[in-house]
Amino acid sequence: MKRLTVLPNALVARGIVLAAIAPALLAICNAAPAPIVLTGADRRPATSLNGDWAAIVDPYFSGLFSFHHEEKKNGWFLNRKAQPGDPFPTEYDFSKAPTLKVPADWNTQRESLFFYEGPVWYERDFTYQPKEHTRVFLHVGAANYHSWFWVNGQKVCEHEGGYTSFNCEVTAAIHAGGNFIVAAVDNTRHEDGVPTLETDWWNYGGLTRSVSLIEVPETFIDQYDLHLSRAESNIIEGWVHVEGGKQGAKVEVEIPELDAKTAAALSENGRAAIRLDVKSLERWSPETPKLYKVRISAGKDFIEEEIGFRTVETHGTEILLNGKPIFLRGISIHAEAPYRTGRANTDQDAETLLGWAKELGCNFVRLAHYPHDETMLRAADRMGLLVWSENPVYWALQFDNPKVLAKAEQQLDEEIGTSRNHAAIILWSMANETPNTEARTRFIETEAAHARELDPTRLITAALLVRGEGHTKIIDDPLGKALDVIGFNEYIGWYEGNPESADTTEWRIEYQKPLIVSEFGGGAKAGLHGEENQRWTEEYQASIYRHQFGMLNRIPQLRGMSPWILMDFRSPNRPLTGIQDEFNRKGLISDQGQKKQAFFILQKAYKEKTVGKPE
Ligand code: GCU
Repeated sequence: MKRLTVLPNALVARGIVLAAIAPALLAICNAAPAPIVLTGADRRPATSLNGDWAAIVDPYFSGLFSFHHEEKKNGWFLNRKAQPGDPFPTEYDFSKAPTLKVPADWNTQRESLFFYEGPVWYERDFTYQPKEHTRVFLHVGAANYHSWFWVNGQKVCEHEGGYTSFNCEVTAAIHAGGNFIVAAVDNTRHEDGVPTLETDWWNYGGLTRSVSLIEVPETFIDQYDLHLSRAESNIIEGWVHVEGGKQGAKVEVEIPELDAKTAAALSENGRAAIRLDVKSLERWSPETPKLYKVRISAGKDFIEEEIGFRTVETHGTEILLNGKPIFLRGISIHAEAPYRTGRANTDQDAETLLGWAKELGCNFVRLAHYPHDETMLRAADRMGLLVWSENPVYWALQFDNPKVLAKAEQQLDEEIGTSRNHAAIILWSMANETPNTEARTRFIETEAAHARELDPTRLITAALLVRGEGHTKIIDDPLGKALDVIGFNEYIGWYEGNPESADTTEWRIEYQKPLIVSEFGGGAKAGLHGEENQRWTEEYQASIYRHQFGMLNRIPQLRGMSPWILMDFRSPNRPLTGIQDEFNRKGLISDQGQKKQAFFILQKAYKEKTVGKPE
């Protein structure tokens, strides 16, 4: 008779508990390691994986989930080519699939994918020659919105968030000769997402920014922060972190042009504090966007950076750049590609968009509503444009959901960790137009504290909604207490009143802090002309701008403006046939580069400094 082993109750209980949580434990054990953040990944030699990838559209995600919705561990994607004698019908065969370009959104590559929201599978082959004592990371500039990656059938990472870069270690999965990488990208919007279900921009899905392989030594520099001290004008301070670095190991930072060099030792947390005495440093500014070659080295690893050095702070209601008050003459910009439309992701896109901003007379751009890519930020450094960078905490997130807060903080970690050395960035924006509730205020206060912990050298802001009482507009959102600089959006003349309404509008502002009007404007179809009181004409849009300036000059704390918006951009919320055709038409320039009358109205005001506080 089979002996029944009677287990003590406690063990039985533990067994039951284990059985109950086993799937979750299995999922965690099977979960690939969390991606890491690399500062300055674009400064490292890389093997590009850009180009044509085989692509299979999989609306029911049956490639990853069974018909009982359990995650498959060895789904069909491991057998990407049908093999003779397969024990099952291979219906998903990458070798027979059409291709999609990477980096690019899928919406503007195929008519059938224009409105598509769901999973798409990508696959490409590549050859590789492993090197001794070298670790290899898959660098993904962005994948919107949720993405999974396998190399040679081994899961290497999973990531949520559509606008920040991440890096998955593939050292153990990659081998000499032929390899293949499979990715699943799902741009489905989620109520508990960041952003959430509703946005006023196109939900471009896919591997929307560059993908590459980056090789690093066994211990390597993953993050660093070098900036000019606010307190000591000739000191560059900061830190360098070395992944896997031993306490006491040496880090060096050198700026050859300044004949400056320093060495420091890693502390137990892998960080070395840096302090570099630089006498003849030329500070970065919009007028003199001076960048220095900076060599950061640790053991066998080094990075050749290009960094500008400046200080930014507030003093009362002033924003001080390099200790002097500045007025931010700006414009808002979405990452929409000029001419071809779709997700912007090339140097050419950046040069065109920021070139238009310079032509407008800007010293400032609000990169809405999510972190833009490194090409844009490198261009802003080169061209001397100050940047407002924004975490996509947009409109009505689930502010009472701790998982959503964790996602917002993860995206801040990636945004700030990747881009913290760009002199151009002066403002980290926590949010845009969020509802004034206690849960929202707590959420964003926590987010702001996290941002300050990550980077105490920049200013924290957010674009707030305003409220009105008759001809008076009021800025008293409690969130203002947590901000260094207060952004606010108003659409006098478009969503309320007419352009002339601005002439009689007064402002009541509960904060003695620097203010930026982060949005105003109205829609116009380029080339549509008529009376000034005829909506959608260029004349009407120009009238909105003309009437704004007098009102804005009556706001004593105003220290910047970023009207909405430089260029028309796609949005599913803008269907008006013959006028919008799925574009938000508030651009000063059409998506085809046609400058509207309002462009020249604002350009004149910026050039003659008739709007905004003269420095
Ligand atoms: C809002 C929002 C923008 C939107 C704009 C508009 O202020 O912040 O994302 O595009 O208004 O209505 O055009």
